[in-house]
Amino acid sequence: MTDLNPQAKHMADESMVRCLDAQARAIWPQEIPLLHRYALPSNARILDAGCGTGEGASRMAELFPDASVLGVDIIDKNLELARSRYQKFGSRLNFQHQSIFELKAADATFDLTVCRHVLHSIPYADRVIGELARVTRPGGYLHLIPEDYGMLHFERAGLDPGEFWHQVPAAIGAASQTDMFIGRNIYRILAAMQVEQITMDYIVVDTIRVPRETFAAIIEAWRDGYAEAISEQTPLTYEDSLGYFNQMIANIRDPGGYAVWMVPVVSARVAA
Ligand SMILES: C[S@@+](CC[C@H](N)C(=O)[O-])C[C@H]1O[C@@H](n2cnc3c(N)ncnc32)[C@H](O)[C@@H]1O
Repeated sequence: MTDLNPQAKHMADESMVRCLDAQARAIWPQEIPLLHRYALPSNARILDAGCGTGEGASRMAELFPDASVLGVDIIDKNLELARSRYQKFGSRLNFQHQSIFELKAADATFDLTVCRHVLHSIPYADRVIGELARVTRPGGYLHLIPEDYGMLHFERAGLDPGEFWHQVPAAIGAASQTDMFIGRNIYRILAAMQVEQITMDYIVVDTIRVPRETFAAIIEAWRDGYAEAISEQTPLTYEDSLGYFNQMIANIRDPGGYAVWMVPVVSARVAA
């Protein structure tokens, strides 16, 4: 049977807490204007599907002070961390244990349904997107960040990071039945659904827009969380993998260097 959360071990690891923190600090400033596009009612109801440690859910509670935000995830440790970190929002922000394959909400519950950094890590992403659309009201919005591991570019040095990103995500995706390139494939999924106004935007995490230390912290967390799995699921050894990651981190930290991670942000309006 297909494992519905093949990255469960990584998602629960301490490196993931660091990763989500750094990713949110890198991405959120460019995400705010994209979220402001949606015509949300006052007292909007927002779902953060696969909320992790609550980085996105808490920022949305801050951004939309009248909204109520529900974050759901299946890793209790991260839900507990989110609950303890964001008590200041009181009953406006809740975190519950729910699978995004089978949400508890009735049809048409939410004005805005958000799913950040999740869809590349699960099989059957199309089913989950269907479930997210089900709980979103007609005229409400989906706001999705479907990662794509072909959208990272680093300078060549002793090693060619292009070869790493060509080889590794394809192998990990095949081993876990996930689509590590869903950023480019999600348009076709949405186009076949009852949604309209599909948009594709890109948040540019690069060494110009984002502090080098923040960008480096993302890749360090990926190294610490995934180097071992890469050595088990691809022809690369653990040392090979560390070598690539460390070169990419040095590239980011080099004041004369340039590197970029393009992060797709996809939105659609659920048809009325
Ligand atoms: C990389 S984290 C992203 C966390 C958060 N959305 C953010 O932007 O910081 C992916 C999260 O998806 C969660 N996830 C994976 N499969 C899930 C499922 N079936 N139901 C709910 N959450 C799931 C994981 O547990 C993990 O916390």
